[in-house]
Amino acid sequence: MDDKDVQARYRAGLDITREAGALALDYFKRRATLPIEHKGRQDFVSEADKKTEDLIVARLGAAFPDDSVLGEEGGLRQKGSALWVIDPIDGTANFLRGIPHWCVSVGLIADGKAVAGFLFNPVTDELFSAHAGGGAFLNGAPINVGSVTEIGQSSLGMGYAHRLPLAPYIAEMNAALAAGCDVRTLGSGALDLGFVAAGRLDATFYRHINLWDVAGGMAIVAEAGGTVSDFLGGNGMTEGNAILVASPALYEPLHALFLAP
Ligand code: IPD
Ligand code: CA
Ligand code: CA
Repeated sequence: MDDKDVQARYRAGLDITREAGALALDYFKRRATLPIEHKGRQDFVSEADKKTEDLIVARLGAAFPDDSVLGEEGGLRQKGSALWVIDPIDGTANFLRGIPHWCVSVGLIADGKAVAGFLFNPVTDELFSAHAGGGAFLNGAPINVGSVTEIGQSSLGMGYAHRLPLAPYIAEMNAALAAGCDVRTLGSGALDLGFVAAGRLDATFYRHINLWDVAGGMAIVAEAGGTVSDFLGGNGMTEGNAILVASPALYEPLHALFLAP
């Protein structure tokens, strides 16, 4: 996909993500009235997730009818090689409990790379965005990863998914704390990536996370000067993968801590 096509999708993605966030925020304000379905242990979905995804799919389909779309709730609508990946609400557990830390996440993958991304938390009115080669932005202002160079001074996002075995997570948490990281488990893997891009976190690591959790954030971290592990390699697109994103100085030491063979 050439730059002109990416930029057209970036401009549209900004508007679509904001519109979807406004719809999700409306649901957030009346979350107590929403019937909740359980997809798995500590894994919830409500009408808010489904209707927000429907809106994004409809808007993308109207603007770019030949693009493919993958949504967490609705699955894959396969068309052309450009793939939009949607997590309509990342941080659903926070959303349903009234914790104002969640976002709409939309990412664009083309030629095997994350080429644009959008993360919008409508509660705080913060929209993180980027497209390849264009820099990363928070509400239109440029952002960059942080400048911490010592693990012992870093703030690290981590999270546990109940579908995974517990022991490796405990070991990784133990290793991070022993190395002096200040660990945050904020409950939105997607927003963790936006926070790394803005220097609020220095890094984030998940042993396993799905494509829709990180597709919106990968281009944003890379454009903010961060290093992103090869999430899309192997079966990452279909099966999920580990992800480590960090400011450049912290990437290697954290890779050695979590991902060295
Ligand atoms: C979850 C969040 C959470 C992460 C889980 C994800 P959801 O997404 O990103 O932080 O630890 O692995 O499933 O269910 O809120 O969209
Ligand atoms: Ca998610
Ligand atoms: Ca979700």
